[in-house]
Amino acid sequence: MVGSDKLPVSSPRWLLAELTYACPLQCPYCSNPVDFAKHADELDTQDWLRVFSEARAMGAVQLGLSGGEPLIRQDLPILVGHARELGYYVNLITSGYKLDETRIAELKEAGLDHIQVSIQAPEKTLNNFLAGTDSFEQKKEVARLVKKHGYPMVLCVVIHRENIHLMREILDMAVELEADYLELANTQYYGWAHLNRDRLLPTREQFREAEAIAQDYKEKLKGKMKIYYVVPDYYEDRPKACMNGWGTTFLTIAPDGLALPCHEARSLPGLDCPNVRDMSIRDIWLHSDAFNRFRGYDWMKEPCRSCPEKTKDFGGCRCQAYLFTGDMAAADPVCSKSPHRSAVSEAIASARSAFEANEPKPLVFRNAKNSKSLSG
Ligand code: FES
Repeated sequence: MVGSDKLPVSSPRWLLAELTYACPLQCPYCSNPVDFAKHADELDTQDWLRVFSEARAMGAVQLGLSGGEPLIRQDLPILVGHARELGYYVNLITSGYKLDETRIAELKEAGLDHIQVSIQAPEKTLNNFLAGTDSFEQKKEVARLVKKHGYPMVLCVVIHRENIHLMREILDMAVELEADYLELANTQYYGWAHLNRDRLLPTREQFREAEAIAQDYKEKLKGKMKIYYVVPDYYEDRPKACMNGWGTTFLTIAPDGLALPCHEARSLPGLDCPNVRDMSIRDIWLHSDAFNRFRGYDWMKEPCRSCPEKTKDFGGCRCQAYLFTGDMAAADPVCSKSPHRSAVSEAIASARSAFEANEPKPLVFRNAKNSKSLSG
């Protein structure tokens, strides 16, 4: 039981295994921590197999394999095979870069259920610029192979100011690739995306226009393709129910074994996240301070504490609260009831003036060199 509200602790349902921070791509909106290069001591195969078993015993049913680029792990088929034996639904979240037909078949054989391929843009020059690699044609080929091998075709395009004007072309590309699902994920401004926010955050008008186009295709493609338009929360007046509430559903394990209540929690100072090298998943989930810190409602300050909407949005996102206010227990400033809402309006205004100035700030690409120089 948690706090005086006596909320029962639910089981983790979704395990996200960030297998490595290594990645051949350099996307400037990556949500990995900016200092990822400092955390290169990856868990080995046996560690991951144990983590999967322990989380499954706690009730986890969905396993996401991500990174960095999870394909870099040569033990991927072993990990997939073990997860499948345990009864997980196993999802590979990949850039698709260098994924060939032999490997796709091998992963299918091992029991992989689902491959989500990301593409940066619907045309070569922009895709390759954003990815920092010549990958466009190859990614499209991977999307076709994924379909050919009987996986659901799940395409993900992260949306920001560099590609939002191409919304129609993105949707047409998804049709051409016969995607079953298209995730149009507006950038969430954490990690590298936060660093590049002035350059990446679209204007309100751009969002509205893009959303209308996505809605139009949603209607047109009903029954053929499912389109998810992940709303940009800076333009909302209520926060997202981040992670479906802290420590209720999601468990992320970083490449070096750090157990995180959300994929950004590593950047929260003083949270002191536990490591799977030192503690069992059961102890981490039930007894660690990090996982209990924002469970329930007792930790909340005003205006969240007395807000009737707290059971819907759980006070929003702890990481966003920290990024804007320096206080991870503050209300998410996206909320119009937050005393810090003006910080979000200032971020929007700053990105708009960068856009109107017509002198684009250089993007900081996500790579080990930049990570080292930014994290000292
Ligand atoms: Fe960490 Fe929202 S991303 S709580």
